[in-house]
Amino acid sequence: MAVRGEEPPAVEVCGVSRHFDGGGHTVYAVRDVSLTVLSGELLAIVGRSGSGKTTLLNLIAGLDRPDEGSVYLDGRDITSASEAELTALRRNHIGFVFQSFGLLPLLSAAENIALALRIAGVSAHDEAQRTRELLEMVGLSARAGHRPYELSGGEQQRVAVARALANHPRLLIADEPTGELDTVTGAQIFGLLQQAATEGVTIVMATHDPLIVDYAHRVVEMADGRLVDSGEVKGALDQR
Ligand SMILES: Nc1ncnc2c1ncn2[C@@H]1O[C@H](COP(=O)(O)OP(=O)(O)OP(=O)(O)O)[C@@H](O)[C@H]1O
Ligand SMILES: [Mg+2]
Repeated sequence: MAVRGEEPPAVEVCGVSRHFDGGGHTVYAVRDVSLTVLSGELLAIVGRSGSGKTTLLNLIAGLDRPDEGSVYLDGRDITSASEAELTALRRNHIGFVFQSFGLLPLLSAAENIALALRIAGVSAHDEAQRTRELLEMVGLSARAGHRPYELSGGEQQRVAVARALANHPRLLIADEPTGELDTVTGAQIFGLLQQAATEGVTIVMATHDPLIVDYAHRVVEMADGRLVDSGEVKGALDQR
């Protein structure tokens, strides 16, 4: 993969477009979007349903490739990366949190987290210790042995956040992480993500949740595939 310059931004989206066959007509899901996300920034993307948020997240995470433009992560052009390189990148550098939690139903909270560590090749000793640390971080030490169906939605999402952060990702992609949660529980999830950003994880999140303005460094808005408001950085980030 190509590497550019010194200390590049965590995410750089340059003139990216993505269209799909919409059954007889072309759907322009993302149109000429350019966006820079700084290391440790918590960026929220808002916009109506169908405005292109998920498509843009997928392009940033290397789950999909743009038709035009480039995406750079830490200065590396992922648009020209091979499938194998993208798989390694997603496994080692990116954490994912989705609306529907996505926990494995037959595994306990601890096992769901530990599995992510095992897949990444962490030793059995480190796996147990890191799992304990992560459960503690999300306030679920007492629920370690419980399976998803024994946990509330908010607790399940806390496990999913712990799992996403397990391997110290540089970038966390969250698509509507509070979409199925009530306001109070959603605020807990935003608080955990905000904490992760404070510790240097770059977070790009799509959300409909108006509460996000209290947590994000910047809120950008999409409409019809375009970035219509690229927001203003608030808080201490711009002094870094
Ligand atoms: N694989 C695909 N094939 C065809 N059309 C697609 C595909 N993926 C997305 N689209 C279309 O692209 C547009 C943007 O979709 P996207 O899922 O990115 O929106 P969104 O902002 O995430 O919406 P929501 O808030 O409902 O999650 C929509 O019109 C959608 O139907
Ligand atoms: Mg979406």
